[in-house]
Amino acid sequence: MKTLLSLLVALGMAAMMSFTLIHTTPAPPQDRWVAPASAKSIKNPFSGKASISKGKSIYKTRCVVCHGDKGKGDGPAGKSLTPPAADHTADYVQKQTDGEIFWKISEGRGAMVGWKLILSEEERWALVNYIRTLAN
Ligand code: HEC
Repeated sequence: MKTLLSLLVALGMAAMMSFTLIHTTPAPPQDRWVAPASAKSIKNPFSGKASISKGKSIYKTRCVVCHGDKGKGDGPAGKSLTPPAADHTADYVQKQTDGEIFWKISEGRGAMVGWKLILSEEERWALVNYIRTLAN
């Protein structure tokens, strides 16, 4: 009886621990957000310093709250979301084409709002250009 009881206690603790683990770890790579294939080839019509600095100032006012000052996904409102706000310095973001990043900014998913009704196309491309400067 005593062994059964301690077995149950141990099982309960293991269940609690795995629950905490599941709910505090970022989304595993297979759950990552994938833009549709058609987004890959959308061409970025903007480049250069003016676009980057426009992107930077929009990023500071609209994105830093979740994505953090350096884009690492550690902003006060972003780090505890499930999944957490994306780390824009990371390879899995930077390896995408400009078109894919643009598509994600435009459409959104979950806590990440779609910005196409709020920001112009030029502003969204400026954000893509700024995000490129955050690469590791
Ligand atoms: C309310 C918090 C919040 C704000 C504000 C926010 N984001 Fe996000 N963002 C997220 C979250 C959460 C994700 C992860 C979404 C997912 O994977 O389902 C994300 C994901 C992204 C991604 C996709 C990364 C990838 O490749 O998977 C990009 C790009 C992005 N955000 C750009 C921006 C830009 C640019 C802004 C400002 C205009 C912004 N975000 C504002 C929360 C936010």
